[in-house]
This record gives sequence, structure tokens and C-alpha cells, in this order.
Amino acid sequence: MTVPVSVIAIDGPVAAGKTVVGRKLAQQLGFRYLDTGVMYRAITWLSLQREIPAEDEEALGQLARDNPIRLQGQDSDKVLIGGAQVGPELRDPSVDRRVSLVSQVSQVRRALVQQQRALAKEGKIVLVGRDIGTVVLPGADLKIFVTASLEERARRRWRDQLAQRTETNYQQVLEETRSRDELDSHRADSPLKPAEDAWQMSTEGLSVDQVVNLILQRAQELPKA
Ligand code: DC
Repeated sequence: MTVPVSVIAIDGPVAAGKTVVGRKLAQQLGFRYLDTGVMYRAITWLSLQREIPAEDEEALGQLARDNPIRLQGQDSDKVLIGGAQVGPELRDPSVDRRVSLVSQVSQVRRALVQQQRALAKEGKIVLVGRDIGTVVLPGADLKIFVTASLEERARRRWRDQLAQRTETNYQQVLEETRSRDELDSHRADSPLKPAEDAWQMSTEGLSVDQVVNLILQRAQELPKA
């Protein structure tokens, strides 16, 4: 399918559906896909390996500057960092618990935003994250901000965790989701918020295909650049 857009930014809170929607949208358009959350997770994972405390902003910034991230695979799902290839480790609960703290650090953000802009330079790309439309690429052709209620998002994460492991508890997932929302939305640097010109859509009760189709429709309606 061809659309009159080249750079699509999708932002939103934990488990609002950005990742699955973004990946499918990119597939349908023949665009590249970049999940910027994976980059914050990769730095967080490396900081745990190197035992760098979440409060040591200087060391975290240096870590991010010294270890550029390479993404491979059609969906950028193979991540190379610090000489290691990581994948499922990035979804480990230890990374989940720490990633919102590491991503508050301005020095880390600066290093990653620079890499994200370089990756997006050639266009034909869907990027998903928290600050794509507001900070990384405010000039993106189409900006979407996806939401869903806290309960629905916690349920989605809980179901994912059930599918992967046995040890999970809905109430705990709900509290963790609430606390990550809080940290992501209230940090000083690049807080999670919709860009003024973003199209805000709720994914509550909608299937991935329904959301993707709504975005495609919207993209086709945009005036040609
Ligand atoms: O989308 P995710 O859950 O994989 O993102 C992990 C964390 O990374 C999230 O809690 C906040 C941070 N993040 C960010 O600060 N900016 C982005 N563009 C993407 C993710």
C-alpha cells in the first residue's frame, strides 16, 4: 500500500498497543520499524550487567555514549550492545522494574535520541516510543498517540506474562503499570505526552487489525507532501 507519508510516530503509555500496531503497520507499508523502547531496555540491561546503580547518571550517560546500539532483523528485534546479542532478556522483570528510572536520565536520552534520528533519516519508517512526536521527530508526517485504560493495559501485560511464565499476579502488574506510567509521564526530560498535532486514539476493545486500518485510513487522507 502506498501512502503520502514517510515517517510515522506512534507514542503512548505501557501496553497501549504501540508495538504490535507499529510493527504491523510497518509490514503493511513496507516500511522499517523501530521500537525505541528496546533501546532504553538495552541500556538498562547493560547497566544491570555492569552493576551501575540507577542513580549514577554520569556512568549511565557514559555507558549509553560508549555503546551504540545495533538493531538487526526485519523488525529490529535482534539487539547488539556491548558485544552481546540480546533479545528476550530485554523483557525480563528486572529490566521492566528499572527501565523507567534509566530513561529519566537526560544524558542517556541524548545519546539514544541521536541514534534514533540517524536511523530515521532515510524515511519510510514507523517509530514507536514515548517522545517520538514531541522530541525525537517533531516534524514526523503522521503522529499517533495511542491510549487505553490502566486496567485494560495491565490485563494485556498480565496475559503476556502468563503466556511466557507462570509467576505473575494481576494486582502486582496493575501496580507496576501504574508506577511506570507515573514515572514516564512526570519526568522532567521528555515526559510522555501527546504532541499538540498528534491524533489521539483509544485502542480499548479494538483488535490490532482495526487499529492498523484506522491509521492507514488516516494516512491516506493526509495531503500529499
Ligand atoms: O515501550 P517500552 O515499555 O518497551 O519502553 C520501556 C521504557 O523505555 C518506558 O518505560 C519508558 C522508556 N522509553 C522512553 O522513555 N522513551 C521512548 N521513546 C521509549 C521508551
